[in-house]
Amino acid sequence: TVYPDQHAASKAVAGRIAALIKRKQQNNEPTVLGLATGATPVGVYNELVRLHKAGELSFKNVITFNLDEYYPMKPDAAQSYVTFMNENLFNHIDIDRANVHIPDGTVALENIPAFCVDYESKITALGGLDMQILGIGRTGHIGFNEPGSAPNSGTRLVTLDDLTRSDAARDFGGKANVPTKAITMGIGTIFKAREIILMAWSQKKAGIIKKAVEGEISGDVPATYLQLSDHVDFILDEAAASDL
Ligand code: GLP
Repeated sequence: TVYPDQHAASKAVAGRIAALIKRKQQNNEPTVLGLATGATPVGVYNELVRLHKAGELSFKNVITFNLDEYYPMKPDAAQSYVTFMNENLFNHIDIDRANVHIPDGTVALENIPAFCVDYESKITALGGLDMQILGIGRTGHIGFNEPGSAPNSGTRLVTLDDLTRSDAARDFGGKANVPTKAITMGIGTIFKAREIILMAWSQKKAGIIKKAVEGEISGDVPATYLQLSDHVDFILDEAAASDL
């Protein structure tokens, strides 16, 4: 779906999330949301905060799992995805902090496999993700599933692509400070979500969106695996859709 601009698109995505949460609340069921970081979902989070502050939406029975976190990364660091989520969403809504899950960038290296198994089991035990929202990196990554990721991959430690680290350099005051690794949900984890929404804004994303939507399905561009799903929506602004 192509919207005239990212503001309209973000409002529509936030509306879908709000409708899902309300539907689940009516049935007395929790909503299990997969959340993303980066500039792309910020407008969605702003709109969710607005709906909450207007008294139209409560996050009391919402459980969240974030896609990824840099490794190593202290939660209180300015660049951590914990800080990002707190500043853009969690500090402004009534979510129970015990319901918030973000991969832990402080886990000892030898404990990462067990941490990842546990992260997956928590999602499974809740009946899976109701909805996963995604941005897309210029390498075609979703979460931090870089080129070479397998379609059935689970939560794991990955090595970041050089281009991804260049794109993150500004946040870290130079590429040398960008961690070389991250913990990310896998393509397989994302695929199990009952609804997947990938968002992309601006001309900068037009090339990778063309590859993701129209290109050959291949691990070289992990987002192409989404073509295999029958429950994914690409939500784009006109600029991001301009090469399609
Ligand atoms: C990071 C995140 C991704 C995100 C991507 C794009 O690499 N791990 O989840 O989709 O950046 O970022 P932006 O939305 O800022 O373009």
